[in-house]
This record gives sequence, structure tokens and C-alpha cells, in this order.
Amino acid sequence: MRIGTPESRSAVRVMLLGSGELGKEVVIALQRLGVETIAVDRYPGAPAMQAAHASHVIDMSNPRALRQLVEKVKPHLIVPEIEAIATEELLRIEADGVAEVIPTARAANLTMNREGIRRLAAEELGLATSPYAFAASLEALQAAIDGGIGYPCLVKPVMSSSGKGQSLLRGPDDVARAWEYAASAGRVAKGKVIVEGFIDFDYEITQLTVRASDGKGGIATHFCAPIGHLQQSGDYVESWQPQEMSKLALLRAREISKAVTDALGGRGLFGVELFVKGDQVWFSEVSPRPHDTGLVTLATQRFSEFELHARAILGLPVDAGLRQPGASAVIYGGMDAKGIAFDGVAEALAVPGADLRLFGKPESFLKRRMGVAVAFADNAALARERARQAASLVKPVSGE
Ligand SMILES: Nc1ncnc2c1ncn2[C@@H]1O[C@H](COP(=O)(O)OP(=O)(O)OP(=O)(O)O)[C@@H](O)[C@H]1O
Ligand SMILES: [Mg+2]
Repeated sequence: MRIGTPESRSAVRVMLLGSGELGKEVVIALQRLGVETIAVDRYPGAPAMQAAHASHVIDMSNPRALRQLVEKVKPHLIVPEIEAIATEELLRIEADGVAEVIPTARAANLTMNREGIRRLAAEELGLATSPYAFAASLEALQAAIDGGIGYPCLVKPVMSSSGKGQSLLRGPDDVARAWEYAASAGRVAKGKVIVEGFIDFDYEITQLTVRASDGKGGIATHFCAPIGHLQQSGDYVESWQPQEMSKLALLRAREISKAVTDALGGRGLFGVELFVKGDQVWFSEVSPRPHDTGLVTLATQRFSEFELHARAILGLPVDAGLRQPGASAVIYGGMDAKGIAFDGVAEALAVPGADLRLFGKPESFLKRRMGVAVAFADNAALARERARQAASLVKPVSGE
């Protein structure tokens, strides 16, 4: 793919479906390589829209709206940034040769639904996962738990992200409430859940995995250093890199990541989520795109996960190496308000090794991610302290 001049006949056009903070960094990385960027989301003023050449507001889960926009804009590449997209239409767009979907339309389609990716990983590839079952009614859920999943277990809507609709069940008294909660929070296909046996892991990681051109017409797989992270209510609050692992656990993490990304195919960066206990590794899920816990790479790698994604999708070579240990800590909105402001930015940036990203989201919610602090240090433990300190110094306040 020969890069031209944005907004001219020679332009390489990349359309992002989803324009959040991760998409914003992808847009910036593409801009630096002279690529024309088009940001799409369901609301105006989304983070990536603020950095792109052009933006469009549509309902991306509406196949007709999606097809119309793609035919109008004529992007060379379509880069899904979120899961809630009419991925069936992406399959048709790809099959019709209208645009190339990153990494592949099938990958976007399989990973938007926990059932698609779990069956691929566990049943086709034979990877270790938590014990699981799918249920479309409260009775079926109870039967699956009684039939072998047992307690404690997790119930999740098959279509949801960021922990939405998830419950941890400790006993039979929790089942009905978990069913109701999942059914109310599921995105589309309301009323289908996965129930997973609880894995008592030592730690969990994101294995960022890049499928990029090998310069000889094939694909080479590259691995970033493992990222450890901390989740609260299914949402990431802190991440660090590298996560220390035993040699065998790291080897297994990479074997699993290679197997699942080979099966999904295409070019780009993937975030493979894994649970680790001693030398044992379980596959949890995969994002065929930059991962929120990978924001840490803004502080740690020569090329962040966003720059790696941009290079890989354009068919360019990548360097996934670590430069220095680092960490990230999330900054929540802390209030429901529009046009908020941030106190303490200067203090946060005075923390040694620290940097900030404020996403510019037009509206804040109590638990909406509005920014992130990243920091480097000689070791990941010190980097975590620095990132946490910097994040805690940033105080969202009313913009009135
Ligand atoms: N089977 C399990 N055993 C133990 N912990 C689990 C299990 N499944 C999920 N978790 C915990 O809950 C977190 C969120 O789960 P999961 O990644 O499936 O949800 P999600 O909604 O896709 O989250 P996100 O979109 O933020 O990745 C995991 O990172 C892990 O900490
Ligand atoms: Mg997850």
C-alpha cells in the first residue's frame, strides 16, 4: 500500500469504526504517517473525531447506515475500534471487495460475541479456558451450573464489554439476580449468557500480539512484553509492563496467542487476555485491536500499541520491543457532567517519569474513563506508584 497525500487522489484512507481514546491514538499514529483518517461513532465530538481529518455520526450497529457511509467515503481500510458494530455487514463489505476490514471481517464478527470466540478457542483450537456453558433462559443457566460449572462462577452477557452485566455467583441464591442483570445489560442478542467457572489465577495479563508483513509477502508474528493489570468490576484500573512470569508460563502465553491470532488472521495488533497460575495459562478473550490495558505502551515501548497497529495494518514493518518498564492508571470522571475541567494537571506532570492523556470526552460520568496517567521507571513496581500518584493528582471539576 503506497502512502499518498491526505485528501488528494493518492490518499490512503482509513476509517475507524468507534472513536474513543484508543481510536484517537490510532488516528494520531496514522496522521504521522500521512494517512487520511475518518472517525465514526454514535455521538459527535468523540475523542478520535477531534484528531481525524473527517468524522461522521451514525448508528454503527445499523447495517444499512454502515454500508451507505462506507460507499460514500470509500476507505481503503476499515478499522473497528469497538465491538458493537454490524459485523455481518462488514463480512459483506469485505466479500464484495468494497474495503479491507482490519484484521479481518471474520475476526470482528467472531470476537463481538463471546460465544463465537470461546467456541473457536476451546473447541476448534483446543486451548485451555475456564469451564463454560451458554444459556438462553434462567432455567438453562441453573441447569448448566448444577450440571458441572458449579460455584463460584461468573455470568456475562454474550455481547458486552468493560464488565457490563457481569456477576460473580457464590451460591444458588445469586443465580436469578445474575440472570436479570445480564439480560438487562446485554448489547444485542438480549438474553443469552455465558457462565464460566471461576479461575483462581495468580495474575492476569494482556499479551499484545502483532501480525505484520514479513517483507516477503507473508506475515510475521511479534510479541510485546507481557502486560499485567488490575480489574475492578470488570474494568481495568491499572496496568504495568513487563509482568514477571515464569519461562514456561510466558512460552505458553505466546503459544496460545499465536494460535488464536493465526486463526483470526489478517494484519494488525491483538490484545490476548490470559489468566496465569504458576506455569498454567488459560485463554480468556481477545480483542482484534489495541487493548485498553495497552495504554501503558505509550510510556514503555519505542512504538506504542497504537503505532504498531498503524504500521501493521499499512503493511509496514514493526518493532514490538520494550524500551523501559512502565505503568498506567485510569482517571475516572468522578461526576456526571458535560464539559468538565481538570485541576492538578501540572502537579501530576511534575511526578518523575509521568505523562498524561486527557481524552477530551464531551460528557463525563462517575465511572467513565476520562484520562490516563502513564509513567516509566527502572522497574514496574516504582512505575505503578508513579502512575497511581499522577492519576490521583488529576481532579475532575465542574467546567461551569
Ligand atoms: N472465569 C473467570 N475466572 C476468574 N476471573 C474472571 C473470569 N472471567 C472474567 N474474570 C475477571 O473479570 C474481568 C473481566 O472479564 P472479561 O474480560 O471477560 O469481561 P469484559 O466485559 O470483556 O471486559 P473488558 O471489555 O474490559 O475486557 C477479567 O479481566 C478477570 O479479571
Ligand atoms: Mg476482558
